[in-house]
Amino acid sequence: MNEGYKKYIPFKQIDLPDREWPNKTITKAPIWCSVDLRDGNQALIDPMNLEEKLEFFHALVDIGIKEIEIGFPSASETEYEICRELIEGGHIPDDVTIQVLVQAREHLIKKTFEAIKGAKNVIVHFYNSTSTLQRKVVFKTDMQGVIDIAVNGAKLIKELTEQFEGDTNIRFEYSPESFSGTEMDNAVKICEEVMDALGSTKENPVILNLPNTVEMCTPNTYADQIEYFIKHLKNREAAIISIHPHNDRGCGVAATELALMAGAERVEGTLFGNGERTGNLDMVTVGLNMYTQGVDPELDFSNLPKLKEIYERCTNMRIDPRQPYIGELVFTAFSGSHQDAINKGHIYMKESNTPYWEIPYLPIDPADVGREYEPIIRINSQSGKGGAAFVMNHNFGYDMPKRMHPEFSKLVQAECEKLGRELIPKELLKVFEDNYLNIQQKYQLTKHKVYEESENGKSYVHFKGRMRIDGDAEVKLHGVGNGPIDAFFKALKPINMEKYKFVNYSQHAISEGSDSKAVSYIELKKPDGKNIFGVGIDSNVNFASILGVLNAINRAELENNA
Ligand code: KIV
Ligand code: ZN
Repeated sequence: MNEGYKKYIPFKQIDLPDREWPNKTITKAPIWCSVDLRDGNQALIDPMNLEEKLEFFHALVDIGIKEIEIGFPSASETEYEICRELIEGGHIPDDVTIQVLVQAREHLIKKTFEAIKGAKNVIVHFYNSTSTLQRKVVFKTDMQGVIDIAVNGAKLIKELTEQFEGDTNIRFEYSPESFSGTEMDNAVKICEEVMDALGSTKENPVILNLPNTVEMCTPNTYADQIEYFIKHLKNREAAIISIHPHNDRGCGVAATELALMAGAERVEGTLFGNGERTGNLDMVTVGLNMYTQGVDPELDFSNLPKLKEIYERCTNMRIDPRQPYIGELVFTAFSGSHQDAINKGHIYMKESNTPYWEIPYLPIDPADVGREYEPIIRINSQSGKGGAAFVMNHNFGYDMPKRMHPEFSKLVQAECEKLGRELIPKELLKVFEDNYLNIQQKYQLTKHKVYEESENGKSYVHFKGRMRIDGDAEVKLHGVGNGPIDAFFKALKPINMEKYKFVNYSQHAISEGSDSKAVSYIELKKPDGKNIFGVGIDSNVNFASILGVLNAINRAELENNA
């Protein structure tokens, strides 16, 4: 047995006996801050170039993000130039604040202040690492050493802000990097000292960003840390509590949600969770999770496919087919019982007129994120009877009667088995057309006339026509009945078609190009006692039914000859 697990130290729990967050719910959107262009970008094999960064920046603005960390301008010339281009090129709307990251080190802070000249709104985000492990193995210093670095940085930032020329609105953000690996009382202490050094007030609050730099604990523990921090911070109202979760245990979204319940007011994350290692928290998922709970995320995700396209092109990353809300397969139901339930949900919504989204297996209306109904259901040999009928109705407007679903589903499954794969909606339509509309016709009407006549207040329908049988000479037909189907059956008597019995029919209108036509579905009983369906389409409702009858007969005769 592998005993490797013994080398890991379990995460220390937080002493928070009266924790309140488990009873809270998320009722409003946080302040969102995108770190795509910094944390996301620095984690790419090929970081974005200027053009890509600008395009990405505009995409973030377009979805409504108001605080955007644009990079690390003191880290390299490229980063510096991108910052200058954003400012000088007039890319930043007045209601958007750019955020610049810098380590709490003098020369880097000075360079950062040069980079932001001329901007309207800026958050200067400085950080240093505070965790027990980093102090022990990286910095080889005690907590006071780490506090001194942060406080010195804060003092310099305050001084440079006071001397700053122009009317730039500068705000501050401090991150005790690796917050979640820091003793909570130390995290509180360093932040309080930074607040004192910056002179933070209720009117000019500092953003205290509490990163889960490496996700090492369950989301409830991170929530405990946030609640603990908030409860113990002096001068709480002079701070905006921000979180910055990463996703090392795959719980970034959950950690964010619980931390919001614990009182976090601001969230730093990226689109689709790009970022160091397993990524930052995915703002799209957190936002849409809120949306599906009836809470406005205050971000516009109505065209996720476009966002995905920009994201994949600029970052060269790929979105997993199972990624919530945007993955290729997330609105696809393969299982027959799921397909049936989705189908029933659509029917229920139509019939009940409910104002709510009430469809099993679909937590969100795909249309709300710019996705289409088309790929919701894929047809394969495992699909249920309702799935294929659902696609035929939704995609092509053929509303087959329920009794016909098993017959059509069998045809679909046979095709799936033949091809050894699922069918796409277009192929499904072809199965329908090949089996109902374009079949070889043993009995072919070459001429027809359907008309009504009344006598002594009673009306009758006449069917008159000519029929070619197996390509031979035409025979004349005439029948009178109480409806078109009855009249047609009577007309078929001389050619010995009484062996087929009429069972049922249904009809609806369908648009074909500019004109509307009627589709009739006819169910007949065959001589062997089994039922078969036929489909007729015509601009004349009565004739559509007659064609349906003929189609069912022709299909039955084809079966006999098979
Ligand atoms: O993950 C992290 O801790 C960071 C900080 C720089 C905020 O990205
Ligand atoms: Zn980070």
